[in-house]
Amino acid sequence: MTDHLTDDNADILAELPAPLVDRARALDAADPLADHRRSFVEVDGLVSYLDGNSLGRPLKATRDRLARFVDGPWGSRLIRAWDEEWMDAPTQLGDLLGRVVLGAAAGQTVVADSTTVMLYKLARAAVDGRPGRDEIVADTENFPTDRFVLEGIAAERGLRIRWITPDPAGGVTLDEVRAELGERTALVLLSHVAYKSAYVADLPAITAAAHDAGALVLWDLCHSAGAVELSLDADEVDLAVGCTYKYLNGGPGAPAFGYVAARLQDRLRQPIQGWMGHDAPFAMADHYQPASGIRRFISGTPPIVGMLPMRDMLALIEQVGMPAIRAKSVALTDFAVELADEALAPYDVRVVSPHDPSRRGGHVTLDHPDFRRVTAALWARGVVPDFRPPQGLRLGLSPLSTGFVELTAGLGHVAQLLREKRNHA
Ligand SMILES: Cc1ncc(COP(=O)(O)O)c(C=O)c1O
Repeated sequence: MTDHLTDDNADILAELPAPLVDRARALDAADPLADHRRSFVEVDGLVSYLDGNSLGRPLKATRDRLARFVDGPWGSRLIRAWDEEWMDAPTQLGDLLGRVVLGAAAGQTVVADSTTVMLYKLARAAVDGRPGRDEIVADTENFPTDRFVLEGIAAERGLRIRWITPDPAGGVTLDEVRAELGERTALVLLSHVAYKSAYVADLPAITAAAHDAGALVLWDLCHSAGAVELSLDADEVDLAVGCTYKYLNGGPGAPAFGYVAARLQDRLRQPIQGWMGHDAPFAMADHYQPASGIRRFISGTPPIVGMLPMRDMLALIEQVGMPAIRAKSVALTDFAVELADEALAPYDVRVVSPHDPSRRGGHVTLDHPDFRRVTAALWARGVVPDFRPPQGLRLGLSPLSTGFVELTAGLGHVAQLLREKRNHA
């Protein structure tokens, strides 16, 4: 396959050990998903896109879908489209996401709000659903929004947060959670895949341990959905939230998803009581009466336009299947670790993600004191990873859009920038 991203990479590849470059070419040639890379919008000047876990690339099909939407449902059906299709979009799309990505039966997933808002709604509903319990278990390495939302809820409800401080290059372990659980625990909130290290928490065992203590568990799946296989129903997860603009390619600001297990839905009440979560939104009632089922977790008008792009990605994921996507993700992250260990370690770069692929999600984080400067220089060259303080270079390897030579070229530029600095020191 001619590689539109890496045709111009001969010079940088020539600077890397030849066996590594040969392996990258062989991995691309043997990759059963390689052709799907052509389904994404192609762009001049992009050498290596390594940030699929921040913002997934658009599919070409999305271009047409957006245009069709303007002339079709919006332009032609206008307000009638609410009755015809839009009112059910949050739950219909939720069901699709549940089936294709989350391992969730219909009626438990909804697409709405931002991740932050959905997280607030579900966390507040959970702590209120465990009266008499006044503690939340969380960790200091979780994404800021998760920690900030919990601080707000703790202040609102007079709760105490028991903070776990995990290994930053690893993540929260079952033993660390067990040590904080007790009869006062209302809620455990953790990320399934850690946003910095990519550590995969032991979701089934931690969920079971929390249940043994009588607590509910809320999993943040932002870095899992579309990269790692999930089976929320089988693992008896209570609640989950996640982004759709990362591995689900929903586009900037695409709405979040929320999962609430069917057994809990009618027992939980979320705090943002808007008209769209009412039992009869168009009755314009005097007082709030929550809808039954997953609809009660909706608050305001569903973000219909923002739901369009992820439909294309979900269709592609359904066609390919999550096991094949995870297999490619593991191959990509394995190779990233190998490249870093061989080509970047001489410049004192360290891998701060797990080496064990079963404990590693879809990204790999590298560590070096110079990475803030290096990241800025990489972006100017069309190599796009992201930087996470204090000194992490994060490689987000979206399995359907990323190639092995593309990854190798990107890390070749990292090596070149570090070498230039060393030579001028
Ligand atoms: C783990 C995690 N949670 C939450 C968010 C973001 O929340 P929001 O979509 O509200 O910006 C992110 C964004 O990168 C994230 O990585």
